[in-house]
Amino acid sequence: MNKIGVIFDLDGVIVDTAKYHYLAWKELADDLGFEFTEEHNELLKGVSRVRSLEILLEIGNISISEEKKQEYLVSKNEEYLGYITKMGADEILPGASELLDALDNVGIKYVLGSASKNAPLILKQIGLFDRFAGIVDGNSVSKAKPDPEVFLIGAEKLNLTPKQCVVFEDAIAGIEAAKDANMISVGIGDENTLKEADYNFNNLTEVPSDFFEKLATLN
Ligand code: G6P
Ligand code: MG
Repeated sequence: MNKIGVIFDLDGVIVDTAKYHYLAWKELADDLGFEFTEEHNELLKGVSRVRSLEILLEIGNISISEEKKQEYLVSKNEEYLGYITKMGADEILPGASELLDALDNVGIKYVLGSASKNAPLILKQIGLFDRFAGIVDGNSVSKAKPDPEVFLIGAEKLNLTPKQCVVFEDAIAGIEAAKDANMISVGIGDENTLKEADYNFNNLTEVPSDFFEKLATLN
C-alpha cells in the first residue's frame, strides 16, 4: 500500500460557515441598497474575501474607491466574527469527526487547506484545531483558489508528493485547484456542480470506510 495524505477544505466540508458569510455580506449589500440573494452567495464559496467583495460589488453594479473597499472588508469581517465567535462543536458537519477519527486510526495524516483567514479561529471554536498536522489558510497563501498554491503548500506540510494527496472540497474553485495541483479530488455536495471531481459524495457520512485503503492501493 502506498502512502497517502488528506487535505480538507474547511467551509462547507468541516463546518457550514456559508450561512454566516451570507448574513454578513447581505448586511453590507442592504447598506449599499441592493438585493443579495442566497443564489448570489453561491458565487462566493471558496473564493477569497477580497474577490468576494469584488463579486458582490459587481452584483450591485457599484464602483467604489480602494479606500472604501478596505473599509467594507473590515466591517464585513467584524460582522462575520460576531457569528463565528458563537460557534461550537455542535456545528461540525455530519461525518467530519468520524472521518478524522478513522484517519487517525489508520495513521493517515491530514492538513487543512482553506481560503479563510479565520480558519484557525473557527477550528478552535469547534475544538478541532489540534487535530490537524498542519494548517494552510488565507494568511499563508498569495494566490487564491482556483490557484493550486494552498494545496501544494498542504502537500509540503504532509511531506508527500501532490499525487499522494487527496483533497476534500465543496467548491468548484477548490476542485479546479486540486486538479491543477495534480491531486486526487473529492467533491462534497452536489454532484452536478462538482462534476469535475474524481469522486463525489453528498456529505462526509457517505465516504465508505474502505475509501482510503482503496485509494492507497490504486495510487
Ligand atoms: C472560504 C469560504 C469563502 C470565503 C473565504 C475567505 O473559502 O468558502 O466564502 O470568502 O473562505 O474567508 P475569510 O474568513 O478569510 O473572510
Ligand atoms: Mg469550501
